[in-house]
Order: sequence, then structure tokens, then C-alpha cells
Amino acid sequence: MSATSSAINPKGPRTETATANPIAWVCDYLCSSVGQKVLVAITGTLLVTFVLFHMIGNLKMFAGPESINKYAYFLKHDLGAMIWIARGGLLGCFLLHLTLALWLKSRATAARPIGYAYGGNAQATPASKTMMQTGLVVGVFVLFHLAHYTFGTVHGVPSPDGKGETNYLDLQYKMPDGKMVHNVYAMVVAGFSTPWISLVYLLCQIVLFVHLSHGIQSAFQTLGLVNRRFVKVARALGVGIAGAIVAGNFAIVIAIWGGWVK
Ligand code: HEM
Repeated sequence: MSATSSAINPKGPRTETATANPIAWVCDYLCSSVGQKVLVAITGTLLVTFVLFHMIGNLKMFAGPESINKYAYFLKHDLGAMIWIARGGLLGCFLLHLTLALWLKSRATAARPIGYAYGGNAQATPASKTMMQTGLVVGVFVLFHLAHYTFGTVHGVPSPDGKGETNYLDLQYKMPDGKMVHNVYAMVVAGFSTPWISLVYLLCQIVLFVHLSHGIQSAFQTLGLVNRRFVKVARALGVGIAGAIVAGNFAIVIAIWGGWVK
């Protein structure tokens, strides 16, 4: 390409504009498929970090109602504006990750509408070939999960007087200092005491594992943290991190469903 060319290279940014105009270079980079793949990897990594810490926080269910209710109160009320910044960032990552992944997929399909005669390359695995499908299931699960625990619209708890139901969000817990807080413990126990809900969560955790185990190793490679010689290390990290997240979530659902956490 000549030094004065202004054509956008779909595989990467224009190199000649880098020194002249860094902002144009960044825009070109983000419009290129390489830049978009990097953004998918960065947003995916941030989402995995959230899911990992969310699972670790949820393990407080095993420490009893005071522990998880105090933790939930801290996140929602003591962090002030920080929680809204974190929620905005999370939503932004989710939307960017989804949109760019769909956009890259449609571009790849448009560039190769017929596909290879040989159905796939030697390194393709069932997880890598179904990233779109598993990602969409995880996305739908997150919407269901928000309706269930954040908005309390899926179902409620039978009221003490036996008439009707109490909304999950109205369950209260009295802390040792007398302060009334949201009873997240009772809400989660009520949720997973319902067999069909537990089943939905367990099935979605399996899909989450398939998505994350490939997604994590792919992000390591895209971000250049692991080169081709260490593909096995990246694969082990993907399976290990995804396995830890899903095992923790499974433990909570099974412990409640089985009646060990009441
Ligand atoms: C068994 C596993 C899980 C349990 C017990 C659980 C529990 C909860 C609870 C209780 C809340 C509401 C917190 C509150 O309002 O005080 C919540 C919110 C949320 N959960 Fe989960 N969760 C689980 C798995 C997941 C997974 C796998 C994801 C993502 C893939 C996820 C994403 C979210 C999001 C995005 C929110 C909203 C956070 C906010 O309001 O700021 N959760 N979860």
C-alpha cells in the first residue's frame, strides 16, 4: 500500500496514519476485524472476571444468612455510585461482546458463503464450533437470571398466612445490630428449592462451561498472552477457570436442592 493510500485494511489499521493521527489509527483499528477480535477478547475477559467474583461472593451462602446478606447490602448500598458505574460497565461489555461477535461471524460468513469442502480445520472442537449458539444461550440465561433474582418477577415465596405469595424482593432479614436488610439468603434458597428452576440453572451452567472453556483459551491467544507453542497451557487454563466457576455455581444449586443449605 502506498504511503498516501487511505483505504481501510479490513485486517488491520492503516499504518501510515499512525504517526500522523493517532485517533484515526485507533478508529481504523477498532473498525478492522483484528481490532474487533481484540475487543471481543477484552470484553469477554472482563465478563469472565465478573462471573468468577460473582461465584466466589455467592459461596457466602455456605456461611449462613448473615454473611451473604451483609455482603449483598455492602454491594448495593455501601458502594454508592461505584455500583452503578460497575453495572454500566458490565452492561456495556455484554452488549459490545455480543454485537461484535455477531458482526464478526456475519462478516466471516459473507466472505466465505459456501464454506470449505473439508468441514472444519484440525483444531476445531465442538466447543469452538458452537460458540455462537452457547453464547446466545448464556445471554438468554442472564436475562432469565436478572428477571429471577434482580427483579423478582419469575416467582415468589408462599406468604406466612398461606394467602398468595411474597415477592422475593420483599424478604427481610434482621441483622444483629437491628438493621433490616434484603434477605438474599432466603431468596436464593426459595429459588433453588423449586426443581424446574434448579434444572434450568444446572443446564445453563453446562452451556456456560462449554462457552467459557473455549472463550478463555481463545482470549489468551487473541491477546497474545499465550503463543501457538503453549496452546495446551491456554486450553488447560480455559478448562480450569471455567470448571472452577461452574463447580462453585453447581455446588450452591445442588446444596439447596438437596436440602443441605436451608
Ligand atoms: C448458581 C449460580 C448463581 C447464583 C446463586 C447467583 C445469584 C445472584 C443473585 C442473588 C443476584 C441478585 C443480587 C441482589 O440483587 O442482591 C444476582 C445478580 C446477578 N447475577 Fe447471578 N448468580 C448465579 C450465577 C450467575 C451467572 C452464571 C451469571 C452470568 C453468566 C450471573 C450474572 C448476574 C448478573 C449480571 C447479576 C446482576 C448484578 C447487579 O444487579 O448488579 N449470575 N445473582
